[in-house]
Formats: sequence, C-alpha cells, structure tokens
Amino acid sequence: MTQDELKQQVAQAALEHVVEDAVVGVGSGSTVNCFIDALASMKNRIDGAVAASDASAERLKKHGIRVVDLNSVAELPVYIDGADEITEHLHMIKGGGGALTREKIVAAVARKFVCICDASKLVPVLGKYPLPLEVVPMARSHVGREMLRRGAQPVLRENFKTDNGNLILDCHGLTVLDPPALERDLDGIAGVVTNGIFARRGADVLLLGTPDGVKTTRRKA
Ligand code: 5RP
Repeated sequence: MTQDELKQQVAQAALEHVVEDAVVGVGSGSTVNCFIDALASMKNRIDGAVAASDASAERLKKHGIRVVDLNSVAELPVYIDGADEITEHLHMIKGGGGALTREKIVAAVARKFVCICDASKLVPVLGKYPLPLEVVPMARSHVGREMLRRGAQPVLRENFKTDNGNLILDCHGLTVLDPPALERDLDGIAGVVTNGIFARRGADVLLLGTPDGVKTTRRKA
C-alpha cells in the first residue's frame, strides 16, 4: 500500500468517531485533507466543523461543510488531526504544516482527540522530526539562543508566516525523553506562542494506517 492509501484508510476509519448532529473539530495537513474529503459523505449528518487552519476551512467550505467559529461552540465532542510523530503513549510532535497554535487550541476544547496517521509516524522517542515553535517575530533571536542552550539547532522556516502572522523555528537534534516536561519548559520561553509538543493534552485515540489495516490505540487512563 502507498502512503496515500494508508492515509485514506485512516481518514475513512475516523468517520466512525464523528458524532452526529454535533460540530466536529478538524486539524490540518495531508491526512486531514483525506479526512475532510471523506467527511463530505456525511455532511448532512453533522452541525458543521471548526477548522484549525485557513487551508482546512477552505477545503471544508468547498465540500459545502459549514465552518463554525470556535468561540460560538459550547462543546466539541471530537477533534480529528494528524501528527508528524507520535509515541505509543500518544504524545506527539505537530506543526509540520505550521498550524500548531490553532491545533492546540481546538484540541484543548475537544473532549476527545483522535489522531490519524500512517505507520511511518509512530516512533519510540520524539525528536527526530524537527520540533516546530511558533515565535513572535521580535523574539526570534532570543528564542533561538534559548533553544541552543537546550542542545537544539533552531532553523527559521523560510518564506513562511503562520495564520497568526508569526514565524516558525524548526528545532533539530532534540531527543525528547520527557515530553510533558519539555512542553512545559518551552512554553515558559518569552516569545514562544506555542511549541509543537502535544503531550499534556495528547491524543486519546490513535488510528494508525498499516498494510495490515487500521490499528487502534487508546490512551491508558
Ligand atoms: C500541521 C500538523 C499536521 O497534523 C502534521 O504536519 C501532519 O501532516 P500530514 O498529515 O501532512 O503528514 O501538525 O501543523
């Protein structure tokens, strides 16, 4: 099976987690694009969607799915999103597409986070994928120095601005042995809007696309 077929497989499987007559949270990225395309088949059975990026909002609208402002939603039963890396503990690195801030916000509101990935994303330890930080432009050098102190090599994502008008520093060379602790630490650096570790609010369910079918892992209580 190709990677695209694995993505389509998990996107289809995620439909089973969508709650009818409710608003669904939708992340961003190529796997989520497959999910949005699949969601179109049940658009008349949902109230609409909250999108974590402008690109996802556009794709939802093209399918005729109503896009709702997060502030107007009292509750969000489920959020479906991809990841750049995920561990068996359902800790993730996200932000490859630069939408990490809105993704973290929507994930925080949702009751259940369902992560959809192809098998290449499952790793024993986070960090091989460069960790994205969304940074206020004037703090770029300060945050870069702070990351060097932590043993990472920060690289400015070129010609890129987030949906919030900020920069992304991709931090190479980290081995994230304690994801919740590093997430908290990086949140404390002045000028970091959001870091791409999703551990304190990790996924509740992982749907992993493999050549043998979709494997489901649930977060241990
Ligand atoms: C975007 C993200 C995406 O979920 C992540 O990059 C995975 O994308 P893809 O499904 O294209 O591999 O965090 O900010």
